[in-house]
Amino acid sequence: MKAGSSIGEWVNERAPGLMPVYRKHMTEYYAPKNFNIWYYFGSLALLVLVNQIVTGIFLTMNYDPSASGAFDSVQYIMRDVEWGWLIRYMHSTGASLFFVVVYLHMFRGLLYGSYQKPRELVWLLGMTIFLVLMAEAFMGYVLPWGNMSFWGAKVIVSLFGTIPVIGKDLVEWIMGDYLPADATLNRFFALHVIALPLVLLLLVVLHLAALHEVGSNNPDGVDVKHGPKGNRWDPTKPADGIPFHPYYTVKDLVGVGLFLAIAAFIIFFQPTFGGWFLEHDNSIPANNLVTPLQIKPVWYFTAFYAIVRMIPSAFGTAVWGVLGMFGAILLLFLLPWIDAGKVKSIRYRGTGYKLALTLFVLAFFGLVLIGTDSTEELIPMLFGPSVDVTSVENIFGRIMVLIYFGYFVFLWLYTHLGWEKTKPVPERVTTHD
Ligand code: HEM
Repeated sequence: MKAGSSIGEWVNERAPGLMPVYRKHMTEYYAPKNFNIWYYFGSLALLVLVNQIVTGIFLTMNYDPSASGAFDSVQYIMRDVEWGWLIRYMHSTGASLFFVVVYLHMFRGLLYGSYQKPRELVWLLGMTIFLVLMAEAFMGYVLPWGNMSFWGAKVIVSLFGTIPVIGKDLVEWIMGDYLPADATLNRFFALHVIALPLVLLLLVVLHLAALHEVGSNNPDGVDVKHGPKGNRWDPTKPADGIPFHPYYTVKDLVGVGLFLAIAAFIIFFQPTFGGWFLEHDNSIPANNLVTPLQIKPVWYFTAFYAIVRMIPSAFGTAVWGVLGMFGAILLLFLLPWIDAGKVKSIRYRGTGYKLALTLFVLAFFGLVLIGTDSTEELIPMLFGPSVDVTSVENIFGRIMVLIYFGYFVFLWLYTHLGWEKTKPVPERVTTHD
């Protein structure tokens, strides 16, 4: 008898309920056979999540979550702990790559209408993951207690100060002090290493459970689950479905290989990525008397941060800007109800949708740049040195904000008022074979 099967049988006798779960989600989960590279990013997000947890555990072994010791403990990890530099760079690069992967994963949803009925819950859980991930990354960023950690924490927590009446008290309550200090660091550490990772893991399990109830969408946006039945494995299952394992586990390994090559290149040759993944000001210890020249969040937050900056303040606070920022995220949550399109995939959608999505993506990139302030260098390069940078930057930024919000307004009108002229959708998924 083979060793593998005897272990399998041993487990099966004692926990007969496990095998059906494995079959439901792996060998008998029939995924559409036409997945393309956009479908790599879900499994890559899982991979990065595991990387963050494992490297995080090792970092925690030598990190000191106190205002007096945090900065030095990170330097100790980088210089004295065996392989500490590698673990830290894997974690810091991993954070940025997490957002690259998740943004591409979300964009796939927009390309193929994956948020539309019946996958609204998958999308809502995904958006909740995105929110928690932002909180997780923000708190992690504060932990090395560099000068950007300190000022970043101060600016971001102060955003809550714009809430009328309770704002000021809320800021103090979050920080546990009048400025980011020991108490802030302690609680951010606790939330970052245990509370939020647990929530994230739970949400990911729910996200996948919800997806497997309704089945995956695909690049044609054709419903495979309720289409013709009978494939070579099971006459009652979708004709255009193939077992997730081994077919997509093997396909996903190709994505994993490519991704690891890129990640290794960054970790070994460009760990700070020119200040985009690890900012230069964070190599200076936190100092509440020295403000960095530019206080800006890491690139993955800058699009939303730019919205705060570009919306003019009122009543002496950035209250509209903060509302705008939360509104920008809320609108993403509401996409399944904003978009009433009859067709899911961009392949068969109207030209208006294609144009709007292109503009939306460009505006998002524009906002990322505005938020990092690199437009200060970019705009004079484009328009000559004599322009008034601030005003051009503001005009450019506000146009990007309008396009961002305009996308949702347009999409609602376009699909609810029946303006969209779609192309005929094929009966079955299309493949190149
Ligand atoms: C930790 C973060 C996340 C992980 C580990 C994760 C994991 C996955 C996996 C493994 C899949 C199935 C494979 C695939 O379709 O690519 C998937 C599907 C999906 N995810 Fe995520 N996800 C994450 C975040 C998000 C976010 C932030 C959103 C959107 C707001 C999202 C929306 C979706 C949707 C709509 C699907 C179904 C796609 C389709 O069938 O076309 N996910 N996710």
